[in-house]
Amino acid sequence: MKALVLAGGAGTRLRPFSHSTPKQLVPVAGKPVLFHVLETLARAGITETGVVVGGAAEQVRAAVGDGSRFGMDVSYLPQDAPRGLAHAVLIARAFLADDDFVMFLGDNIFADGIEEPLDRFRTGGAAAQLVVRKVADPSQCGVAEIDAEGRVTALQEKPERPRSDLAVTGVYFFTPRIHEAVRGIEPSRRGELEITDAVQWLVSRGADVRAHLCSGYWADTGTLGDLLECNKVLLEGISPDNRGTVDAASVLSGPVVVAAGARVTRSLITGPAVIGARTVVEDSDIGPFTSIGEGCRLQGAGVENSILLDQVSVQGVRRISGSIIGRAGDVRQTPDGSAVHRLLVGDDSRIDVPA
Ligand code: DAU
Repeated sequence: MKALVLAGGAGTRLRPFSHSTPKQLVPVAGKPVLFHVLETLARAGITETGVVVGGAAEQVRAAVGDGSRFGMDVSYLPQDAPRGLAHAVLIARAFLADDDFVMFLGDNIFADGIEEPLDRFRTGGAAAQLVVRKVADPSQCGVAEIDAEGRVTALQEKPERPRSDLAVTGVYFFTPRIHEAVRGIEPSRRGELEITDAVQWLVSRGADVRAHLCSGYWADTGTLGDLLECNKVLLEGISPDNRGTVDAASVLSGPVVVAAGARVTRSLITGPAVIGARTVVEDSDIGPFTSIGEGCRLQGAGVENSILLDQVSVQGVRRISGSIIGRAGDVRQTPDGSAVHRLLVGDDSRIDVPA
């Protein structure tokens, strides 16, 4: 069984971060979403993975390498433009050969793993198997209709009026029959080859397509709000691990990870929280639900429920909450003490300040 991981696409909903970092490399709970994806696949016993990459191919390659750190062989499959999830299957034909495979969207997180649906697919004999989840409003997702036995009877992609409350999540199990389907469909109204249409193609031709109802935590980290929520949930599962230097005047309370080379001085860190490698925290109050990247510098800072990417500096600013600060972001007090907000803000950013 192989895996096909989709790490191309445009990521427009994750601007400004996706201007410089592909959305699959934005960190949650201390590591890129894509690393969580590869770890989930490795835990399920997958050892051969093709990663579909687009414009940010070099960054993805540099981060993931040959896959050995995840215990798997990773090959890269370049996609010239984001032409749709079914197009990704089309270009992966040679890599996939005639094997069954799991397709995993590189911005999806399954905190409780995929072993259960994988076992079900292996023993069930279906031509394809989706993982679906009940949600209040599935209009931004694929939507599945199923019969009493869990067979998929119809599918819609991001419908205005969903015909069921079952969202199609970002994990799909396929037999080689999907290859004929992706060749048989036309681009949708938004100009993409939709995997939903390819699966519908199979359903319409009488293929046995099953739905597995997912009960664990699933997130599509497509928006900034989703990222913070997902960060919170994944941090709840961490165990304390201190590999850095914490002085006697500091307190680590609850599950806190301090990575190698990090230094914490005269500070309170309330878990769950992750302090990245080589980060310096002084006279600060950090956490809970906070994930700080590598090489950051926090001095007299107060940060909770937030994600800081690498090399961020926060000096003399407290009450930072519900925030995501991009790589090398610099947040500091106005030097002359005046009560103004002085902003140097990149494209597509957003700032909320008290009235
Ligand atoms: O997250 C589940 C949803 O994922 C499903 O409910 C939908 O049916 C499915 O179409 C998909 O919708 P999204 O709008 O969330 O897909 P998105 O464009 O965000 O792409 C998903 C991942 O695939 C993302 O990591 C980028 C990557 N991708 C996307 C396209 C369109 C590629 O690698 N190549 C592509 O051509």
